[in-house]
Amino acid sequence: METTFTTPQSYIDDFNSIDYFQTYYAPGVGAFAGEWTNFVLRNLHETFAPGRVEGDILIEFGAGPTIYNLLSACEVFNNIITSDFLEQNRIQLQKWLRKDSDAFNWSHVVKVVCELEANSDNWEEKEEKLRSKVSKVVKCDALKKNPFDPLVIPAADCLISCLCLQAACEDLESYCNTLKNLKELLKPGGHIILQNVLNCPFYYVGHKKFSCLSLTKQDMEKAFKEAGYEIEEIKVVPCIDKSKMDISKFDSFCYVHARKPLN
Ligand SMILES: C[S@@+](CC[C@H](N)C(=O)[O-])C[C@H]1O[C@@H](n2cnc3c(N)ncnc32)[C@H](O)[C@@H]1O
Repeated sequence: METTFTTPQSYIDDFNSIDYFQTYYAPGVGAFAGEWTNFVLRNLHETFAPGRVEGDILIEFGAGPTIYNLLSACEVFNNIITSDFLEQNRIQLQKWLRKDSDAFNWSHVVKVVCELEANSDNWEEKEEKLRSKVSKVVKCDALKKNPFDPLVIPAADCLISCLCLQAACEDLESYCNTLKNLKELLKPGGHIILQNVLNCPFYYVGHKKFSCLSLTKQDMEKAFKEAGYEIEEIKVVPCIDKSKMDISKFDSFCYVHARKPLN
Protein backbone atom coordinates (compact mmCIF):
# COMPACT_ATOMS: atom_id res chain seq x y z
CA MET A 1 0.00 0.00 0.00
CA GLU A 2 1.29 3.49 -0.92
CA THR A 3 2.32 5.76 1.94
CA THR A 4 0.61 9.17 1.77
CA PHE A 5 3.11 12.05 1.49
CA THR A 6 4.04 13.41 4.90
CA THR A 7 3.43 17.16 4.81
CA PRO A 8 5.67 19.74 6.52
CA GLN A 9 2.90 20.30 9.09
CA SER A 10 2.85 16.57 9.93
CA TYR A 11 6.60 16.76 10.50
CA ILE A 12 6.07 19.67 12.88
CA ASP A 13 3.28 17.85 14.73
CA ASP A 14 4.45 14.23 14.70
CA PHE A 15 8.25 13.91 14.43
CA ASN A 16 9.53 13.02 17.89
CA SER A 17 13.32 13.54 18.10
CA ILE A 18 13.76 11.23 21.09
CA ASP A 19 11.86 8.41 19.37
CA TYR A 20 13.96 9.00 16.24
CA PHE A 21 17.23 8.69 18.13
CA GLN A 22 16.02 5.61 20.02
CA THR A 23 14.65 3.89 16.91
CA TYR A 24 17.61 4.49 14.63
CA TYR A 25 20.77 5.37 16.56
CA ALA A 26 20.55 4.05 20.14
CA PRO A 27 23.64 1.90 20.88
CA GLY A 28 23.11 -1.78 20.10
CA VAL A 29 19.40 -1.54 19.22
CA GLY A 30 19.01 1.35 16.75
CA ALA A 31 18.03 0.21 13.25
CA PHE A 32 20.83 2.35 11.78
CA ALA A 33 23.42 1.76 14.51
CA GLY A 34 25.28 -0.86 12.43
CA GLU A 35 25.31 -1.25 8.67
CA TRP A 36 24.06 2.26 7.84
CA THR A 37 26.36 4.18 10.17
CA ASN A 38 29.32 2.01 9.10
CA PHE A 39 28.59 2.79 5.43
CA VAL A 40 28.10 6.52 6.00
CA LEU A 41 30.99 7.03 8.41
CA ARG A 42 33.50 5.19 6.24
CA ASN A 43 32.45 7.22 3.17
CA LEU A 44 32.77 10.47 5.09
CA HIS A 45 36.13 9.38 6.53
CA GLU A 46 37.41 8.78 2.99
CA THR A 47 35.79 11.93 1.54
CA PHE A 48 37.32 14.21 4.18
CA ALA A 49 40.74 12.57 4.25
CA PRO A 50 43.56 15.13 4.01
CA GLY A 51 44.01 16.40 0.44
CA ARG A 52 40.52 15.42 -0.70
CA VAL A 53 37.40 17.51 0.04
CA GLU A 54 38.30 20.37 2.39
CA GLY A 55 37.76 24.10 2.83
CA ASP A 56 36.40 26.80 5.08
CA ILE A 57 32.60 26.50 5.28
CA LEU A 58 30.58 23.27 5.45
CA ILE A 59 26.79 23.07 5.70
CA GLU A 60 24.91 20.04 6.96
CA PHE A 61 21.41 20.17 5.51
CA GLY A 62 18.58 18.46 7.43
CA ALA A 63 20.68 16.98 10.22
CA GLY A 64 17.63 15.97 12.25
CA PRO A 65 18.74 15.61 15.87
CA THR A 66 22.03 13.99 14.76
CA ILE A 67 25.69 14.98 14.69
CA TYR A 68 27.34 11.82 13.30
CA ASN A 69 27.76 13.18 9.75
CA LEU A 70 30.07 15.93 10.99
CA LEU A 71 32.64 13.84 12.82
CA SER A 72 35.10 13.52 9.93
CA ALA A 73 34.33 16.91 8.38
CA CYS A 74 35.33 18.77 11.56
CA GLU A 75 38.95 17.77 10.89
CA VAL A 76 39.13 19.69 7.59
CA PHE A 77 36.57 22.54 7.81
CA ASN A 78 36.83 25.64 10.00
CA ASN A 79 33.21 26.72 10.09
CA ILE A 80 30.33 24.25 10.23
CA ILE A 81 26.70 25.33 9.91
CA THR A 82 24.21 22.62 10.76
CA SER A 83 20.48 22.80 10.16
CA ASP A 84 17.10 21.17 10.34
CA PHE A 85 13.51 22.00 9.45
CA LEU A 86 12.19 21.17 12.91
CA GLU A 87 12.62 23.14 16.09
CA GLN A 88 12.51 19.93 18.19
CA ASN A 89 15.55 18.64 16.27
CA ARG A 90 17.44 21.93 16.51
CA ILE A 91 16.84 21.90 20.27
CA GLN A 92 18.50 18.46 20.46
CA LEU A 93 21.46 19.70 18.41
CA GLN A 94 21.91 22.65 20.79
CA LYS A 95 21.70 20.34 23.79
CA TRP A 96 24.54 18.20 22.44
CA LEU A 97 26.63 21.27 21.62
CA ARG A 98 26.11 22.65 25.16
CA LYS A 99 26.77 19.22 26.73
CA ASP A 100 23.43 19.30 28.56
CA SER A 101 22.94 16.36 30.90
CA ASP A 102 19.94 15.13 28.87
CA ALA A 103 21.63 15.48 25.46
CA PHE A 104 21.76 12.37 23.24
CA ASN A 105 24.84 10.26 23.85
CA TRP A 106 26.69 9.81 20.54
CA SER A 107 29.88 8.43 22.07
CA HIS A 108 29.40 4.93 20.51
CA VAL A 109 29.41 6.55 17.06
CA VAL A 110 32.20 9.01 17.87
CA LYS A 111 34.37 6.04 18.89
CA VAL A 112 33.80 4.37 15.50
CA VAL A 113 35.09 7.47 13.71
CA CYS A 114 38.07 7.74 16.06
CA GLU A 115 38.90 4.11 15.23
CA LEU A 116 38.77 4.88 11.51
CA GLU A 117 41.18 7.74 12.21
CA ALA A 118 43.42 5.39 14.28
CA ASN A 119 42.88 7.70 17.23
CA SER A 120 40.58 5.65 19.43
CA ASP A 121 41.86 7.00 22.76
CA ASN A 122 40.75 10.52 21.99
CA TRP A 123 37.00 10.35 21.39
CA GLU A 124 36.27 13.08 23.96
CA GLU A 125 38.72 15.43 22.21
CA LYS A 126 36.96 14.65 18.93
CA GLU A 127 33.61 15.70 20.44
CA GLU A 128 35.17 18.93 21.70
CA LYS A 129 36.69 19.62 18.30
CA LEU A 130 33.33 19.22 16.61
CA ARG A 131 31.62 21.45 19.19
CA SER A 132 34.23 24.15 18.59
CA LYS A 133 33.70 24.07 14.80
CA VAL A 134 29.89 24.38 14.75
CA SER A 135 29.13 28.08 14.50
CA LYS A 136 25.36 27.94 13.92
CA VAL A 137 22.29 25.73 14.14
CA VAL A 138 19.70 27.15 11.75
CA LYS A 139 16.28 26.37 10.33
CA CYS A 140 16.22 25.03 6.78
CA ASP A 141 13.42 24.18 4.40
CA ALA A 142 14.24 22.04 1.38
CA LEU A 143 11.11 23.28 -0.39
CA LYS A 144 12.12 26.96 -0.40
CA LYS A 145 14.14 28.62 -3.16
CA ASN A 146 16.47 29.99 -0.50
CA PRO A 147 16.32 27.03 1.91
CA PHE A 148 17.57 29.25 4.77
CA ASP A 149 15.14 32.11 4.11
CA PRO A 150 15.17 34.73 5.66
CA LEU A 151 18.84 34.10 6.48
CA VAL A 152 21.54 34.48 3.88
CA ILE A 153 24.31 31.98 4.59
CA PRO A 154 27.77 32.52 3.09
CA ALA A 155 28.45 30.25 0.09
CA ALA A 156 29.87 26.92 1.23
CA ASP A 157 32.80 24.80 0.06
CA CYS A 158 30.79 21.67 0.82
CA LEU A 159 27.23 20.67 1.70
CA ILE A 160 26.37 17.29 3.18
CA SER A 161 22.95 15.77 3.66
CA CYS A 162 21.75 12.32 4.73
CA LEU A 163 18.24 10.87 4.51
CA CYS A 164 16.67 14.34 4.34
CA LEU A 165 15.64 15.16 0.77
CA GLN A 166 13.64 11.96 0.36
CA ALA A 167 11.69 12.94 3.47
CA ALA A 168 11.04 16.49 2.29
CA CYS A 169 10.23 15.93 -1.40
CA GLU A 170 7.05 14.37 -2.77
CA ASP A 171 8.33 13.42 -6.23
CA LEU A 172 11.43 13.35 -8.40
CA GLU A 173 10.68 16.80 -9.82
CA SER A 174 10.59 18.36 -6.36
CA TYR A 175 13.78 16.42 -5.45
CA CYS A 176 15.52 17.82 -8.52
CA ASN A 177 14.33 21.37 -7.73
CA THR A 178 15.68 21.04 -4.19
CA LEU A 179 19.05 19.92 -5.56
CA LYS A 180 19.03 23.05 -7.76
CA ASN A 181 18.29 25.23 -4.71
CA LEU A 182 21.08 23.58 -2.73
CA LYS A 183 23.48 24.30 -5.60
CA GLU A 184 22.93 28.01 -4.98
CA LEU A 185 24.34 27.54 -1.47
CA LEU A 186 27.69 26.36 -2.86
CA LYS A 187 30.71 28.22 -4.16
CA PRO A 188 31.58 27.47 -7.82
CA GLY A 189 33.40 24.12 -7.74
CA GLY A 190 31.84 23.39 -4.31
CA HIS A 191 31.05 19.80 -3.30
CA ILE A 192 27.79 18.12 -2.36
CA ILE A 193 27.84 14.79 -0.50
CA LEU A 194 24.50 13.07 -0.23
CA GLN A 195 23.84 9.70 1.39
CA ASN A 196 20.56 7.86 1.50
CA VAL A 197 18.74 4.55 1.20
CA LEU A 198 17.29 3.32 -2.10
CA ASN A 199 13.84 1.92 -2.88
CA CYS A 200 12.52 3.05 0.48
CA PRO A 201 8.82 4.04 0.60
CA PHE A 202 8.44 4.75 4.35
CA TYR A 203 10.00 4.90 7.79
CA TYR A 204 8.55 4.83 11.28
CA VAL A 205 9.43 7.13 14.15
CA GLY A 206 7.81 5.59 17.21
CA HIS A 207 4.29 4.65 16.06
CA LYS A 208 4.14 7.36 13.38
CA LYS A 209 4.68 6.43 9.75
CA PHE A 210 6.51 8.92 7.50
CA SER A 211 6.67 8.83 3.72
CA CYS A 212 9.97 8.51 1.90
CA LEU A 213 10.47 9.26 -1.79
CA SER A 214 11.45 5.86 -3.18
CA LEU A 215 14.45 6.35 -5.49
CA THR A 216 16.68 4.14 -7.63
CA LYS A 217 20.32 4.78 -8.53
CA GLN A 218 19.11 5.88 -11.99
CA ASP A 219 16.73 8.42 -10.40
CA MET A 220 19.61 9.84 -8.36
CA GLU A 221 21.84 10.14 -11.42
CA LYS A 222 19.07 11.80 -13.44
CA ALA A 223 18.22 14.28 -10.68
CA PHE A 224 21.84 15.36 -10.13
CA LYS A 225 22.43 15.76 -13.88
CA GLU A 226 19.20 17.72 -14.41
CA ALA A 227 20.05 19.95 -11.46
CA GLY A 228 23.31 20.87 -13.21
CA TYR A 229 25.93 19.10 -11.09
CA GLU A 230 29.01 17.26 -12.27
CA ILE A 231 28.89 13.79 -10.72
CA GLU A 232 32.21 12.62 -9.27
CA GLU A 233 31.05 9.31 -7.82
CA ILE A 234 27.88 7.33 -7.11
CA LYS A 235 28.32 4.24 -4.97
CA VAL A 236 25.54 1.76 -4.20
CA VAL A 237 25.96 -1.06 -1.69
CA PRO A 238 23.22 -3.65 -1.02
CA CYS A 239 21.83 -3.81 2.48
CA ILE A 240 22.46 -7.22 4.09
CA ASP A 241 20.67 -6.99 7.44
CA LYS A 242 16.93 -7.19 6.71
CA SER A 243 15.88 -7.79 10.33
CA LYS A 244 14.32 -4.35 10.90
CA MET A 245 12.41 -3.87 7.64
CA ASP A 246 9.16 -3.33 9.56
CA ILE A 247 10.58 0.02 10.79
CA SER A 248 11.82 1.10 7.36
CA LYS A 249 12.08 -0.91 4.17
CA PHE A 250 14.93 -0.36 1.68
CA ASP A 251 17.32 -2.50 -0.33
CA SER A 252 20.57 -0.56 -0.56
CA PHE A 253 22.64 2.39 0.59
CA CYS A 254 23.75 5.15 -1.75
CA TYR A 255 26.60 7.68 -1.60
CA VAL A 256 26.80 10.55 -4.10
CA HIS A 257 29.66 13.01 -4.47
CA ALA A 258 28.99 15.78 -6.99
CA ARG A 259 30.24 19.30 -7.69
CA LYS A 260 28.77 22.62 -8.72
CA PRO A 261 30.46 23.48 -12.02
CA LEU A 262 33.13 26.18 -11.90
CA ASN A 263 31.13 28.34 -14.33
C1 LIG B 1 14.93 10.64 8.23
S1 LIG B 1 15.29 12.18 9.00
C2 LIG B 1 17.03 12.33 8.66
C3 LIG B 1 17.77 12.99 9.78
C4 LIG B 1 19.29 12.91 9.73
N1 LIG B 1 19.85 13.62 8.61
C5 LIG B 1 19.85 11.50 9.77
O1 LIG B 1 20.84 11.23 9.06
O2 LIG B 1 19.37 10.68 10.55
C6 LIG B 1 14.53 13.29 7.88
C7 LIG B 1 14.77 14.73 8.21
O3 LIG B 1 14.21 15.55 7.18
C8 LIG B 1 13.78 16.75 7.79
N2 LIG B 1 12.81 17.44 6.91
C9 LIG B 1 11.51 17.15 6.71
N3 LIG B 1 10.96 18.06 5.88
C10 LIG B 1 11.94 18.94 5.55
C11 LIG B 1 11.99 20.12 4.75
N4 LIG B 1 10.92 20.59 4.10
N5 LIG B 1 13.18 20.75 4.65
C12 LIG B 1 14.27 20.30 5.29
N6 LIG B 1 14.28 19.21 6.08
C13 LIG B 1 13.12 18.53 6.20
C14 LIG B 1 13.19 16.30 9.10
O4 LIG B 1 13.09 17.36 10.03
C15 LIG B 1 14.16 15.21 9.52
O5 LIG B 1 15.16 15.72 10.36
